[in-house]
Amino acid sequence: MQSIKLKLYSILRYFYFLSGYPRLKEWIFNQRRILAIKLIGNKYSFAEIFPSADYFPVGIIHTNVQHTKAGWQLLNRGYDDEARAKNAIVSLRKFTMVTHDGLLVSYDIARYVQAAGIAGSIVETGVCQGGSAAIMCIALKDSNVELPQIHLFDSFEGLPHPNEIDYMPWMEEDWALKRTDFDGILATTGALVATQECAEEAVFKVANYPREKTHFYKGWFQDTIPGAKKEIGKISILRLDGDLYESTLFCLRELYPQVTVGGFIIIDDYGLIGCRKACEQYFSEIGIKPFLSYIDAVGRYFIKTH
Ligand SMILES: C[S@@+](CC[C@H](N)C(=O)[O-])C[C@H]1O[C@@H](n2cnc3c(N)ncnc32)[C@H](O)[C@@H]1O
Repeated sequence: MQSIKLKLYSILRYFYFLSGYPRLKEWIFNQRRILAIKLIGNKYSFAEIFPSADYFPVGIIHTNVQHTKAGWQLLNRGYDDEARAKNAIVSLRKFTMVTHDGLLVSYDIARYVQAAGIAGSIVETGVCQGGSAAIMCIALKDSNVELPQIHLFDSFEGLPHPNEIDYMPWMEEDWALKRTDFDGILATTGALVATQECAEEAVFKVANYPREKTHFYKGWFQDTIPGAKKEIGKISILRLDGDLYESTLFCLRELYPQVTVGGFIIIDDYGLIGCRKACEQYFSEIGIKPFLSYIDAVGRYFIKTH
């Protein structure tokens, strides 16, 4: 009798864990968000209200967040080849902070570029642990077409000091920055530090991309990009993921002219105020008004049309 009771108890506990617990956690998270919106109102962007992975608005399934992972296997965005992309995401999850949708779209764009024969290098500015670069590599490798060169830029020392224009309150908590750190100095803040070895593991070991087609540039964009532009040549995908105003503006000014017509510009951090300002400023400098397609709550992309 005792052992039957024990068995029943463990079965119940198992079901409680499977169904009840994640939902309870999700409910608590949502209540917190609803309360934050009630208290602070809608005048701030979501990123200002909700720090880190938790800053997505009520109702958005953000699959980096622990409490939504319970339903992740059921999540289906309806992409072609989604199962393949999902497997790739599983293998790279620990190498990236990019959202599930962010990775899906990068995968899909890389896949399209190969299939459509849009010639040029793949460039990422802001590689960090290498996951978003590696997901593009996996998609490229899935095609039979000759693989493009990929050029990967990062300080591998973390973010530099943001400018005043970048300031959003959650950065103080999430990136452990002081208010006085927003002085634009090109020196590390210690936030988002990853090693080049880690990114190499993602690109070479997990994605198995050929070394002879891959170029890593360690250092500040401002120091490394100007000297690499010639080698890069035409660009089919420019993936901007440097988070900050100056980092984004510099990369756009240097590299956008090399993006081929029909090529893609992915702006991973458009939801961050400094990055958005940098894009708006650059678009106005060169007189374009691109339609920005949504990737997720923070990311956008567009195709260069002329
Ligand atoms: C959000 S992380 C990139 C995330 C990454 N793509 C992933 O898959 O998780 C931003 C990266 O940009 C880099 N970064 C930002 N500004 C930079 C600059 N001016 N020069 C070099 N690296 C920079 C940081 O070192 C950091 O690794």
